[in-house]
Amino acid sequence: MITASAPGKIILFGEHAVVYNRPAIAVPVAQVQAIVTIEPRAHGLIIHALDTDRTLDYAQADPLDPLAAIVRVTLAHFDLPAPDGSLTIRSAIPIASGLGSGAAVSVAIVRALAAWLDQPIDDETVSRLSYEVEKLHHGTPSGIDNTVIAYSRPVYFVRGQPIETFEVKRPFTVAIGNTGVASPTKIAVGDVRRGWEGDRAQYEAWFDQIGAIASEARAAIEHGAIDQLGPLMDRNQGLLEHIGVSSVELERLIAAAKAAGATGAKLVGGGRGGNMITLIDETNRETVVAALYAAGATNVIVTGIGEW
Ligand code: MEV
Repeated sequence: MITASAPGKIILFGEHAVVYNRPAIAVPVAQVQAIVTIEPRAHGLIIHALDTDRTLDYAQADPLDPLAAIVRVTLAHFDLPAPDGSLTIRSAIPIASGLGSGAAVSVAIVRALAAWLDQPIDDETVSRLSYEVEKLHHGTPSGIDNTVIAYSRPVYFVRGQPIETFEVKRPFTVAIGNTGVASPTKIAVGDVRRGWEGDRAQYEAWFDQIGAIASEARAAIEHGAIDQLGPLMDRNQGLLEHIGVSSVELERLIAAAKAAGATGAKLVGGGRGGNMITLIDETNRETVVAALYAAGATNVIVTGIGEW
């Protein structure tokens, strides 16, 4: 039997504008993982997705199904036929909630198949193959999710450009609060596109401001100026509200975190539901986490950035 895994991710700054070629910053979240195992089987390739309770016979599956599609693009890359085997996916990453569950499942499947077929594969190729399937999940993905998850390190990402990683001079901590509202990224991304088509000048100006925030935040992280990050999160959140991807539930959690002493907070990923993040420290960690649960968070993950 072989096993491969991939982490979740959060976008610290820059979601949505990144689709329109502005920079964004994302980091892996190791506390939540997608894990794929492959075991021997006499005939054919069977895919079991335990969390969504699905079983697919690869030979009969809809080729556009994301699970069948990532197997197909991986086998095509190696120019090999489907192996016999039982491929099982277990993921602790909540679906449609801004933590990169689709990309993490793809990355873990590519890595598991490569190991099962005894084929070497580098991070760049894992990312590229996963991006093919991100297009099915997201419509017009920037590629940031598959990149940060395949490379498993902090990235400063600009669409179409080679990835840049960056130094975290002083580690910092964020709490990630889940609204419990599943919200497919594809829908939020499509709605932003319709907004942009309706008023390009306004949306381009908002995207410029979001991109500038992501660049400022990178500089702050590289210089250890953590006190600047809270206000930058608040400004980024304000712009995400303008482009229409926030929600009542997200704003309730954001307000609760701030009332409990956090210096800034914003939604992460596609928005409309899913998760938010807030900057915390040792002095307010317990109070902020308790406030998030009291405001309706279904789960809170605390993660250190720069402690890998
Ligand atoms: C999704 O994690 C991030 C978005 O910016 C979409 C994308 O970059 O493809 C909303």
